[in-house]
Amino acid sequence: MQTVPFGFREVERADKRALVGDVFAGVATRYDLMNDLMSAGLHRAWRRDLMLRMTRRDAHRTLDLAGGTGDMAFRIRRRFAGAAVIVADASAEMLEVGRRRALDRGLVHEPGWICADAAALPFADRSFSQVVCAFGLRNFAELGRSLREVRRVLRPGGRFLALEFAPQPECLDSLYERYLFEVVPWLGDAVTGRRDAYSYLAESIRRFLPPEAMSAELGDAGLGTVRLHRYAAGIACLYSARRT
Ligand SMILES: C[S@@+](CC[C@H](N)C(=O)[O-])C[C@H]1O[C@@H](n2cnc3c(N)ncnc32)[C@H](O)[C@@H]1O
Repeated sequence: MQTVPFGFREVERADKRALVGDVFAGVATRYDLMNDLMSAGLHRAWRRDLMLRMTRRDAHRTLDLAGGTGDMAFRIRRRFAGAAVIVADASAEMLEVGRRRALDRGLVHEPGWICADAAALPFADRSFSQVVCAFGLRNFAELGRSLREVRRVLRPGGRFLALEFAPQPECLDSLYERYLFEVVPWLGDAVTGRRDAYSYLAESIRRFLPPEAMSAELGDAGLGTVRLHRYAAGIACLYSARRT
């Protein structure tokens, strides 16, 4: 039986789905606040850079995969009026927080909110001009199958933009290590009451693929001409690819 990493543990795929589901169900209402606190707002700069690289032509029909509470979807709608955006995520709790945020902003019909697993997307072939995935890849129980799903739902030439942490940034030193493995779980405990969720975050970052291996995965799934941009001495990376 093939196992997959859930943080530092090896678990069965079905168990990873359930464990990841429990992590995000447990932090959903405080997820956005925690992102700001633990990164001191840095994630916003990375997301802004991603948005600057996005074109209206690519964005007009976008799937925000593992879109959670809709951070990227709201940015896309703000920047590209008229773009059709759908958020798909496996966590009903994260989607519910996003849906409420949308209503607070007066957004009733858009974006759309769909509960779905990345490995089995409920969309027709070639239905999107772009798929965006911010900090989702690490959490997938079936990365290869999910990337092939991304390719399937993209139009030929369609764009895939993914933001993800890298396991061994250049700035890997004892300070970053202590911050990730001690401060972040402590803060997570104080803000969400779920220390385990933020220990999982730290461990899952450390266990994730290095950028070169991640780029190769994209190529294997038919998402080629990968461009890689590194942020903050390689703490996070933006992968930009097109359906070949
Ligand atoms: C770190 S959050 C990122 C949320 C959002 N993209 C953002 O940028 O804030 C990871 C998201 O991936 C979702 N997720 C994890 N595994 C998934 C899967 N197999 N299929 C779809 N979504 C998944 C989680 O429910 C969670 O909302």
